[in-house]
Amino acid sequence: MSKLNILEYPDPRLRTIAKPVTGFDTALQQLIADMSETMYAAKGIGLAATQVDRHIRLLVMDVSEQRDQLRVFINPELLDRSGSVEQEEGCLSVPEIYAEVKRAQNITVRAQDQHGEVFEEQLDGLTAICLQHEMDHLQGRLFVDYLSPLKRDMLRKKLVRQHRQEAETVPTGS
Ligand code: NI
Repeated sequence: MSKLNILEYPDPRLRTIAKPVTGFDTALQQLIADMSETMYAAKGIGLAATQVDRHIRLLVMDVSEQRDQLRVFINPELLDRSGSVEQEEGCLSVPEIYAEVKRAQNITVRAQDQHGEVFEEQLDGLTAICLQHEMDHLQGRLFVDYLSPLKRDMLRKKLVRQHRQEAETVPTGS
């Protein structure tokens, strides 16, 4: 397995719309393994293929406390959504930025597992929120897109400041 590079906002590649997965071959299994390793190493609860510059409809998630319940969703589609919930979200592609986003509370998803087996599931809680967030990535959408223009502008300034600080951090010592 190997860790993959995670694209960061405002990288335009994060806006790519992913294509359906058609082959469940060893290359796909390798990508799933690499994405899982990348997600766990970054301490994220979800990662979409878009974020590692692979534009296919694949995402991995693990919202468990013990970090031992990996979920793989391939070609996911929402069949139903109801209710509304607002919770603070973050994103591995938008480091150190957190904001409240409104999502459906209950969703029904149909997807394929890593072997191509179709399944349908009703989800709620953090799992439902996370899946909606990751499915947005596959559509080239980021959670910051839901914020008001004013709030988004504040975030943009914060990011510019962060990048400037990183650039100014001169390594000391030999
Ligand atoms: Ni994200």
